[in-house]
Parts: sequence; C-alpha cells; structure tokens
Amino acid sequence: MAGSDKKLTAKLVLPDSKEVALPVMVGAEDEHAIDIRNLRQDSGYVTLDTGYMNTGSTTSAITYLDGEQGILRYRGYPIEELAEKSNFVETSYLLINGQLPNKTQRDSFGRMLTRHSLIHEDMHQFFAGYPPTSHPMAVLSAMVTSLSAYYPDCLDRSAPVDLHITRLLSKVRTIAAFSYKKSIGQPLIYPKNSLNYGANFLHMMFAVPSEDYEVPPVLEKALNQLLILHADHEQNCSTSTVRMVGSSGANVYAAIASGILALWGPLHGGANQAVIEMLEQIHREGDDGSKFIEAAKDKKSGRKLMGFGHRVYKNYDPRAKIIKEQCDRILAGLHINDPLLDIAKKLEAAALGDDYFVERKLYPNVDFYSGIIMRAIGIPIEMFTVIFAIGRMPGWIANYKEIMDEATTRIYRPRQVYVGPTERHYVPIEKRGKNP
Ligand code: ACO
Repeated sequence: MAGSDKKLTAKLVLPDSKEVALPVMVGAEDEHAIDIRNLRQDSGYVTLDTGYMNTGSTTSAITYLDGEQGILRYRGYPIEELAEKSNFVETSYLLINGQLPNKTQRDSFGRMLTRHSLIHEDMHQFFAGYPPTSHPMAVLSAMVTSLSAYYPDCLDRSAPVDLHITRLLSKVRTIAAFSYKKSIGQPLIYPKNSLNYGANFLHMMFAVPSEDYEVPPVLEKALNQLLILHADHEQNCSTSTVRMVGSSGANVYAAIASGILALWGPLHGGANQAVIEMLEQIHREGDDGSKFIEAAKDKKSGRKLMGFGHRVYKNYDPRAKIIKEQCDRILAGLHINDPLLDIAKKLEAAALGDDYFVERKLYPNVDFYSGIIMRAIGIPIEMFTVIFAIGRMPGWIANYKEIMDEATTRIYRPRQVYVGPTERHYVPIEKRGKNP
C-alpha cells in the first residue's frame, strides 16, 4: 500500500551540521521517494532540479511506468494487453474513471461520445480565417480554447466537468478533421453517428461529398491501436503542463489546450513529424543512414536521431515495440512497400549496435515507428502530432480530474535559485554609457 512509511526516514545533514529528518514515501510498486514537502519550512533550504530529472511532482493513481524495465500500465493494466484486446473508447473510460467499464457503462460512454461530436456552426468561420499553411496544432489548440467560450458553464469550478470531458474527447476529432479539410480546400465532412469513434474520424478526414467512402477496417484498427498507445504516459511535459495550468483553477478546455501546445514541440509529440522528415531526408540523399548516425553523435552538427532516446526509458519503449511489430502487419495488409520502413529498421539496428547510443541507453521511443503507420493510413505529416493529441486526450483529462478531485491540491508554484544581479539603483538614461 502506498503512503508515508513512518519507519523509513532519510537524513539530510546541512552545512551548519543541522540534521533534517525526511520521511520516505513508498509507492504502490515499491518506488521510494524522499518527501521534502516540509524541507523549506524546517531548514530554509529549497532543492534544485532543473528539468525535473529527480523530482516527483505529484502522487498519481493513473499510470505506472518503469523505464528501466520497459513497463507501462494504465490503471494497472499492461499496455500490451490493452493494445491487443481493448479499444480507444474503453481505454479512455478506464483512464478517466479508474476501472474498465461494464457493457452498460461502455455503451453509454460510446453513445455520449457519438452525440457530442458536432461543433457549433459559428466555429466553422474560425477555420476559414486561418491561412492554408497554418500548422494544424495551432488551429487545434486555438479551437479547444474556443470551446470554453461556447460552454461558459465550464468556468463554474463547483459544477461537474463530466459533460465537458465528453465534449473534448468527441469534438477533438471533428476539429482535427475540419482543420485538415480546410487546409486542402475540401468541404467539411460532418460526423456520422452510425460510425464508431475511430471510423468516424477517418470518415471526416478522407470522405468527400461526391463519393461513397467505406472506412477500411484495417485502417480503423491501426488508428485505434495508435490512439491506445498514446493515451497516457504519466508526468510527461504536456501532462505536467495540464496539471500545472489546472492547479490554478483554469477550466478544463484551457488546461487541455495548454497540454496540446506543450505536446507540439519536436522534443515531445512533435518528434513523430520530425522522424518522418529525417527518414525522408535520408532517403532523398541516398544515405543508408550511416552518415546521419555519425551526424547525430556529433553535438556540433545540431542533429539528433529523432525518435530515439527518452527521459524515463533506459530500455526499449514498450510502445515502440508494439508499433514496430504492427508496422509490418499493417503495411502488408495494405499492400504498401514503404522504403522509409527499411531505412528506419536499418537506422535502429545501426544505433543499437553503436557505442554512443548503447552507453547512453538510447532506444527507439513511441515516435520512431508511429509515423510510418500514420503515413500508411494516409494521414499527412503535419497531422501526426494532432493524432498524438487525440490519443493523449484521455490521459490529460484523467490527470486534470485527479488534480481537481484532490482536496489537498495546491497551485503549482516551484521555487528558483536566483543568479541575477544583486540590488542596484536606477540610473537615468542620460547618465547611462553606450553599453551599460
Ligand atoms: N540522438 C543523439 N543523441 C541523443 C539523443 C538522440 N536522439 N537523445 C539523447 N542523446 C544524447 C544527448 O546528447 C546526451 O548526450 P551527452 O550525455 O553526451 O550530453 C545524452 O544522450 C542524454 O540525453 P539528454 O538530452 O540529456 O536526455 P533528456 O532526458 O534530457 O532528453 C529526449 C530526452 C528529449 C527525448 C532526447 O532523447 C531527445 O531529444 N530525443 C530526440 C527527440 C525525440 O525523439 N523526442 C520524443 C520523445 S518521446 C515523447 O515525448 C513522446
């Protein structure tokens, strides 16, 4: 059982020899943490941990991850089992509510997601206002924030968030597909209630009014699995952002929009786009990958092997393992021979045999192979991070809910160690030199 174990205490000796006893907390999976919540009060000291390499920002009951062993579990269920046996709607329910749904719960959740897929007609004008070159992540984040203007009851912090959560999960697909359709100049395709979650999104993406479009089951299955694999990943950059913004009491749409923006960066969710750009470049240049590997090892080159390395995995990312296996199956099912898959496999083999990557424990992460599946589905490269955002939605929501439901939640407000100038006095402009 997790909690502060009174028997375990760490001792910190300060420069003045004063000793501070710090309780040790043991998590449900026997992870040990030194609880420093009273440290400043007891000693006057703060801790410094740039990049949060060693800092647990919260306790959480949502996702368990062991980066050394390559383990990932949502609410206790191994990712491998969920990817094989569950679907995205059910996994979303699990993450948000803590338990797998029974049949009645799952059907009712699915029905709610179907019913709330339309966006307010006035919002269509926003899409028209963006230039066709807009990155869909910019549009998605702005539209999700805009939802708070259409559902202003979200500002009432005492009201339940359940309906807003349903809206977010459902409408994110419509917004994503509409932004794509606008960018290629095609008419918007409205959601279709007869289709289930993933198929409805693919229909909005790829159907045109002039033709019949049947969603190929192999694409639906591939998308479903990708979304499950992206659904949560404990305290990563975007999820921590959602919790940080949520801790201020901001509404759920604002908090999730900030998560979308954090995800956009190429060191986080934007890496899936960067991986395909890297593979395309290698393909264009006729490199077998070896030149790129050499450049990625050279800090001065400004290059990295995108889709490799992870803050917490020092072993193979279990999601990457599943996606790699699926790549072969899905491409074969669609009769696609993608040269980028061969390049990716060669790059991986070369990197895993290279001392630089071995010593630093750099393995493929979730983004290394996911782009190849998205390409096979027909998703354009600029939309890759949007797909990640759709997948991560239940994880962000579960974390937002967790922080809102905890009576002990306080606003996230880290300390700093100030290293700027000490006090100095204002000098009028005429008395300042050329280079003050
Ligand atoms: N290619 C080459 N070298 C790398 C790579 C890489 N992909 N990743 C890390 N390294 C090197 C670093 O230069 C550093 O070397 P050094 O010890 O000689 O200075 C060492 O490995 C440790 O890496 P850090 O950057 O310190 O590790 P950190 O935990 O801060 O960063 C990150 C993790 C951002 C994921 C990093 O590995 C990276 O930039 N990877 C490429 C981008 C990527 O794929 N991001 C997606 C992550 S998964 C996700 O967010 C969904």
